[in-house]
Amino acid sequence: MNITIVGPGAIGSLWAIKLLQAGHNVSLWSRSTDNSIELSLDGQASLSFSNNNIEKLSASDLVIFTVKAWQVEEATTPLLQHLYPDTILMFMHNGMGAVDQIATQIDTHPVVLATTTQAAFKPNRNNVSHTGIGQTQLGAFNLKGQQCTFLVDVLEHALPVVSWNPEIKTALWTKLAINCAINPLTGLEQIKNGELADQRFSEVLNSIIKELTQVMMAEGITCSFDELETSVKQVIQATAKNNSSMKQDVFYQRKTEINFITGHLIKTALKHQIEVPVNQKLFAQVKERENSWNHQD
Ligand code: PAF
Repeated sequence: MNITIVGPGAIGSLWAIKLLQAGHNVSLWSRSTDNSIELSLDGQASLSFSNNNIEKLSASDLVIFTVKAWQVEEATTPLLQHLYPDTILMFMHNGMGAVDQIATQIDTHPVVLATTTQAAFKPNRNNVSHTGIGQTQLGAFNLKGQQCTFLVDVLEHALPVVSWNPEIKTALWTKLAINCAINPLTGLEQIKNGELADQRFSEVLNSIIKELTQVMMAEGITCSFDELETSVKQVIQATAKNNSSMKQDVFYQRKTEINFITGHLIKTALKHQIEVPVNQKLFAQVKERENSWNHQD
């Protein structure tokens, strides 16, 4: 397939390399003005990708957006004029609500949502490490997206395990719950994921998960406190040595994904008139941290 990856950060670069190695024509689209980018995975030989090539973008059968949730709109809108209506758009990022904001603009395309627990780290422009083996789930965002189940084979061949989830909303909410539990705390405290297993975090994690369970149930997601707690604990354990994305964003004073993670939970809680004070407090603390950098500028 002809595939363009928009936003070759850690996860985008990992998929770019794996899809190229699986035999696809892969090009990149990024903020860099260079017309080619070299990427090396785990110290292997570098691979060369063309970057920001409009012809390759237009010839794409599949465009995978691996930008952050808050960049989805600004990254997608300018590219639409170069794409055929049947080009498949796939979005893979932490958080929820970003694709809904551009739903009408992209509705001529088959749209697929993806969520992954694969972990990657990009220490610099040209190197990527695959820091955790995970799973990727795909599901339809719109009616046309429902025709795209074949993408499971395409992605699975490149970087297993990949599955199609007809209830992608459940998978997205479960990942959102994991992010609500891990990201703000590791970001604010500047600790690795594994440190959340410490006794001092058990009460706050308990409250975060309780609030999440209530909101998810109100949204019609089948879940229980115990299931969510197990999922959160599993990820804390599996990624114990990793720095969460929010820990890194806070460290480098970059805009975080909080609006689309805890922010999405709060918005949904409000809709159902459910109080989520612990998540609200964490949201306010992360916002305060972000604002403190803005004031310095
Ligand atoms: O955002 C992240 O860092 C990841 O989604 C996760 C699963 C929390 C692991 O660090």
